[in-house]
Amino acid sequence: MAEYGFENPEVVEEEVDILIIGGGMAACGAAFEITRWVQDTDLKIKLVDKAAMDRSGAVAQGLSAINTYMGDNDPADYVRMVRGDLMGITREDLVYDVGRHVDDSVHQFEKWGLPIWKQKGDEGKPLAEGGRFVRSGAWQIMINGESYKWIVAEAAKKSLGIENIQERVFIVRLINDKNDPDRVAGAAGFSVRENKIYIYKFKACLLVCGGAVNVFRPRSIGEGTGRTWYPVWNAGSTYAMGAEAGAELTLMENRFVPARFKDGYGPVGAWFLLFKAKAMNAFGEDYQEKNYQDLVDAGYDHYAVGFKMGTCLRNHLMMKEMREGRGPIFMDTPTAMANLAKNMTPKEIKHLEAEAWEDFLDMTIGQCGVWAGENIEPDKEMSELMPTEPYLLGSHAGCSGMWCSGPEDLPGMPDHYHWGYNRMSTVPGLFTAGDGVGASGHKFSSGSHVEGRIASKAMVKYVLDHPDIKPELERPIDELVEEIYRPVRNFLEHKDYTTAIDVNPNYITPKMLQYRLQKIMDEYVGGVSTMYQTNAAMMKVATRKLEMIKEDSLKMRAKDLHELLRAWENYHRILTAEAHMKHIEFREETRYPGYYYRTDYLQLDDDNWKCFVNSRYDRNTKEWSLKKVKYVQLIAYADNEPKGIAHQGAEV
Ligand code: FAD
Ligand code: ADX
Repeated sequence: MAEYGFENPEVVEEEVDILIIGGGMAACGAAFEITRWVQDTDLKIKLVDKAAMDRSGAVAQGLSAINTYMGDNDPADYVRMVRGDLMGITREDLVYDVGRHVDDSVHQFEKWGLPIWKQKGDEGKPLAEGGRFVRSGAWQIMINGESYKWIVAEAAKKSLGIENIQERVFIVRLINDKNDPDRVAGAAGFSVRENKIYIYKFKACLLVCGGAVNVFRPRSIGEGTGRTWYPVWNAGSTYAMGAEAGAELTLMENRFVPARFKDGYGPVGAWFLLFKAKAMNAFGEDYQEKNYQDLVDAGYDHYAVGFKMGTCLRNHLMMKEMREGRGPIFMDTPTAMANLAKNMTPKEIKHLEAEAWEDFLDMTIGQCGVWAGENIEPDKEMSELMPTEPYLLGSHAGCSGMWCSGPEDLPGMPDHYHWGYNRMSTVPGLFTAGDGVGASGHKFSSGSHVEGRIASKAMVKYVLDHPDIKPELERPIDELVEEIYRPVRNFLEHKDYTTAIDVNPNYITPKMLQYRLQKIMDEYVGGVSTMYQTNAAMMKVATRKLEMIKEDSLKMRAKDLHELLRAWENYHRILTAEAHMKHIEFREETRYPGYYYRTDYLQLDDDNWKCFVNSRYDRNTKEWSLKKVKYVQLIAYADNEPKGIAHQGAEV
């Protein structure tokens, strides 16, 4: 069996003061900022990423816009926009905190070399010196962002020092403290390249592993397998590891279903906002206009914030067309381009055509593959739009994540919004940012970066305030090693039982287990095959099946390090899936139509459910407990917010 050569991993132990887990936007923000706060201390900081930071996380392919930039906007209006988009229930303190700081991160990006579009005459004039930018929408600015992640990662590496960064290590679990099990004291993971297990001890950590993809069966199958909207390497690690450490999660019922260019998952923002394209049903009708009365009749227009309809509501109106047989839905790219070209010179038109392609080349290259492969010229032919499979995340147009302590300096903060250090979860020493912070979506790349910076400052303060913490791991290292390499042992023990390596009664491949999870979630918990619908009876069936998949997950095999990675990603996905389902079960209303429908509670019910749903997972009993948590409004309504939205939140 020795020919496999990875059955006895080397164990590397390391003690640091602060561990940053993840290498994405939030982690890079933290790595950049933290050195400023530790410079007169002897604190040791380490960053560990499962991938290579230059291209890891959701910004890996690059982006064509920075979706959160205030400029002249008021952060209070930003809170109002986020509150409306996320159907009224938002941690306004956390959102405001991002809004008031986010522009500084964008100014840094530009200083580090990110090309930001400027208005004529201001080319070369930095944003920080008043350079006039090009907005695509009210909050978004355009960039040439193919190398966005490289640029941001470079600054992070320079700041933290390459010797304090460990790439290609997948963290499997957090470990609580032996003497104070409520606190977090370490993390265990393995190298995806070498036969090594890493055990870290720390006083505080920033858990920023992004959101979750591939929990639901994706639309792409067969030759398209692997293509999803969200980056395939964010597997719910933030939520699963946080939950197992005892952190309270919030709004895990929320999800994001992006409406995207079909099959390539190309973004729609620039087309809607910059190119002013319209989406229509198969009969050329503007379904948002046509179906608006439906929103009014159901009371959802209360959250359409008068001027703009939120992301899930736009989906909702699109899905009605599809359910009732008036699809496909098309993005009318030719009309948009013709309108824009009206007053343009031929050279400018060529440039416009290039921009249409570049929007995808910058961030979703696969969509160009679809256009090229299907001979679609966007100025001549419309493209189909399609709502994708659901994803869980907390920084885009979704808000699942951990329940975090907010800033201390905002007026009107209730006690349950602030109990400790900024962005610390309910577990002492465990901080998060970006996709990890719940109830405050619409941060996007820039907001996630700045939130990492905010959290890093608070973590340093936490560690300096607690010089007596001596982390000791609750679990013995041998046990952790055995657990992490269990899929390897499953393989080595049973591989000779059959002649076909993938067919064996004693183990299941991670790929097959993933298919099973995706099928359960898709068919019973509101995936694409039921048009995002679920109910209590369906989730009862799913509960049984999830119990079984959890049992079987112990039998996953790993024939190499890549499969070991896949096995543990699945483990994180299952726990994330369970949290998602428990939350949907608990919230007896349909708060986010267009994201999911509780067919047994199809109405919006502000009187009972305009509140957070929080959960806690007990790692010993493996039970979830859920509760309602009061929503508190901190930012006053604007004059143009509809009356209906003025519900102050349900009593809990
Ligand atoms: P990420 O940046 O995704 O980072 C997660 C990190 O965790 C990665 O480094 C990953 O390798 C690591 N990791 C995961 N699991 C583990 C583990 N178990 N152990 C160790 N490391 C782990 N924002 C904009 O501003 N403009 C846009 O145009 C835009 N477009 C987007 C398009 C797409 C397709 C997507 C998915 C997002 C887009 N966003 C955009 C949003 C933006 O990318 C995210 O808000 C941001 O990246 C979130 O930051 P994060 O640090 O929370 O997660
Ligand atoms: S991206 O992150 O992949 O670029 P997307 O293209 O959906 O996402 O959106 C980019 C930005 O545009 C987000 O801030 C999103 O909320 C906004 N947006 C997208 N479509 C619309 C629309 N039809 N109306 C208003 N805002 C929109």
